[in-house]
Amino acid sequence: MRNPLCRPTVAVALFLTLVSSASAAVTPVRFSGERRQSFDEGWRFFKGDAPGAEQPGFDDSQWRQLQLPHDWAIEGPFDSKANPHTGALPISGTGWYRKSFTVPDAAKDRFLSIMFDGAQNNAHVFLNGEEIGSRPYGYISFSVDLTGHLKFGGQTNVLAVRLTPEDRSSRWYPGAGIYRNVWLDVTGPVHVGQWGTYITTPEVSEEKATVTAKVDIRNRTQSQARMTVQTAILDPAGKPVTRVATPADVPARSTQTVTANLTVNRPQRWDMEHPAMYTLVSEVLDANKKVVDRYTTPFGIRSIKFDREQGFLLNGRHVKIQGVCDHHDLGALGAAVNRRATERQIEILKKAGVNAIRTSHNPPSPELLDLCDRMGIVVMDESFDMWKRPKVPNGYAKYFDEWSERDVRDFVRRDRNHPSVIMWSIGNEIPEQNSPDGGEMAKRLTGFFHQEDPTRPTTSAFNSPEGAIRNHLGDNVDLFGVNYRPWQYEQFQKEHPTWIVYGSETSSCVSSRGVYHLPVEKYQKHESLQLSGYDIIAPSWAYCPDVEFFYQDKLPNVLGEFVWTGFDYIGEPTPYFGGGGRGADSSKDWPSRSSYFGFIDLAGFPKDRFYLYQSQWTTKPMVHVLPHWNWAGREGQAIPVMAYTNADEVELFLNGKSLGRKKRFSESVVIPVGRNASRDEKFSSKYRLEWQVPYAPGTLKAVAWSAGKQVAVDEVRTAGAPARLTMVPDRATIQADGEDLSFITVRVEDKDGNLVPGADNLVHFAVTGAGALRAVDNGNAATEESFQADHRKAFSGMALVIVNGHKGQKGRIHIVATGDGLAQAATDIVTR
Ligand code: GAL
Repeated sequence: MRNPLCRPTVAVALFLTLVSSASAAVTPVRFSGERRQSFDEGWRFFKGDAPGAEQPGFDDSQWRQLQLPHDWAIEGPFDSKANPHTGALPISGTGWYRKSFTVPDAAKDRFLSIMFDGAQNNAHVFLNGEEIGSRPYGYISFSVDLTGHLKFGGQTNVLAVRLTPEDRSSRWYPGAGIYRNVWLDVTGPVHVGQWGTYITTPEVSEEKATVTAKVDIRNRTQSQARMTVQTAILDPAGKPVTRVATPADVPARSTQTVTANLTVNRPQRWDMEHPAMYTLVSEVLDANKKVVDRYTTPFGIRSIKFDREQGFLLNGRHVKIQGVCDHHDLGALGAAVNRRATERQIEILKKAGVNAIRTSHNPPSPELLDLCDRMGIVVMDESFDMWKRPKVPNGYAKYFDEWSERDVRDFVRRDRNHPSVIMWSIGNEIPEQNSPDGGEMAKRLTGFFHQEDPTRPTTSAFNSPEGAIRNHLGDNVDLFGVNYRPWQYEQFQKEHPTWIVYGSETSSCVSSRGVYHLPVEKYQKHESLQLSGYDIIAPSWAYCPDVEFFYQDKLPNVLGEFVWTGFDYIGEPTPYFGGGGRGADSSKDWPSRSSYFGFIDLAGFPKDRFYLYQSQWTTKPMVHVLPHWNWAGREGQAIPVMAYTNADEVELFLNGKSLGRKKRFSESVVIPVGRNASRDEKFSSKYRLEWQVPYAPGTLKAVAWSAGKQVAVDEVRTAGAPARLTMVPDRATIQADGEDLSFITVRVEDKDGNLVPGADNLVHFAVTGAGALRAVDNGNAATEESFQADHRKAFSGMALVIVNGHKGQKGRIHIVATGDGLAQAATDIVTR
């Protein structure tokens, strides 16, 4: 296994493995030890239509060889004529993937299927020329059964996948291609079904937990199968805790569900600080007591409760949801799933105090949920951005009638054993909030969710709550999610005495890392195509983070919030759409092509706003001061300086001279907001401290105090001319598996080691040794530079280079960064 964390449900029973040789076009499938194997290697790809490519005899020798996951659109190029909403990247067109493989004769009595974690989109899957499955929704996991179409022995099988993603099918960058992992599943005729376990913990206390495991046993033979299902629980250290055997007589060609009730004494409860994961092992034994299938499911023991008065309770303890909404792209890597890139995102979010993620607006990768399980993050698992009424002409609305039930049921079955998942979203800002059938449609969907999983509430994110109240859509979800109207939480609570309310989408503040415009402006376009980093700018429907903090503090029984967004994402470069509206000339705002909403930029570098959330969401003492301190030409002029802290007080010093202390929560900073947030378009924030500081070059230092003690310091220094580069990898040792990554932060510094805030020097990267350059970025939302190049300009003094190790090659990756007139930097990454 390359990567154990990638498998939410690893099933082991019949002994196959894939061995692929780089030179052979045909991948032999061989017996080994696992029921589930990666099917990512040995594919060929063609961008464009290729009539007849589903036929086994088709000549694909000129096609590109690659390993999945693969996102063809991230390869670019950016195009000023392409849709900026989807990132100005080539997300549409036809793409073909083919894989040739052989299966040994010994597998003749086996049942093989292929699981696609996701394919973007309109997938049609062919085996040896025959269509064996299709799935329109690009975010849903689906499997195709190969039974009856396979050739055995030395004969070659060809699996072909045709994708036809369309333009104007999404409101953000969806990626294109088989962008998630693909698996081969091999079983005998009687086995645990696909996503065939459902584990709940109906009673959980410190002393004991009851674990109920429902296991689907599928019998594909023509006669009744008399089996025994052995269900065992392993503790987080892998030690057996308890087991139970249950007889199962499964009629011919049918599936039967076996229920086992188990007790775990003194359980290690899954919690944010201690996300303890247990494992359920389900073994199917035949009449001779031989194990014919073995299926393992990671799960957690925890209780969740949503309470009108107390909010969200995890294991009986109140937890305020400090969440972010995030799209699925991984910045410069595009939509192609990568476990380490996902893990890094969560690590960065956690530093801001984030404890929850909303998978806006679609089913996430299995890896994301796996990591949330293991890193103690709770998840609002979302299904759709639209139902039947389209938001974009080629969106999911086209498929809703035919596929929504199937998609929901599959989605819940895939995800319901993750302890991280605490609620199901039936949709985001669904246009049916304002149509008469909205209530009935919500009832139908909520019904599917509750049939598949009665233990979690459903919810929806409403931007037209009045409509959703009028047509009873709101009555047909369990939790009432409000987008961008914190001032109405109290009203909804009062008018609906049983409803549980929370901020399903909040803030939508926009900014560019390290960019500050003076004088401080309101929301408007700026010729730089950037947005000021003073954290006050938001579109008309939105507001700065402080407004949400105010209402969350005022109403502790509101569950919490999901900020739009944690990370910047590709697409939706609000407000730079070229005049706005349909048919707008987006080339006017070219090359703006990704969002400014994140409190972390696309490269993963925190913006100032990151620290504003940290000041509200964490307790470890911190202070952050902004802006940068390079204001040549403004000597003597007042520069607004802000400090974000969770300490009692902050004292500001310029070149050693105190500019006074300010107490947290006792000062107000007036911030411009839209008319929705305040009639006079001003909001007094007590969540930040501000000084007007006459500019003089030097050092601006913020010292934070709590209970009379100095607890944290932050400073910015006036930087001189760019003199040198530095590189700092996030990890100096990575796995030599071709997938693991090191993210290296590149800084342009002056001769004294100060970051040069405005530096945009071009930096070249030379990567040698046991690895390769994967991608580059700098967090600039308005550039058409390729993510797949060996060079990048710095943006606000920083750039990012991502490297991976060569598969199976242990050694060192040597990376050198060079730039004209700059002392070069070098770093080594060890691959193991
Ligand atoms: C919301 C929408 C999000 C995003 C956001 C930008 O209305 O749900 O997907 O578009 O606005 O502020």
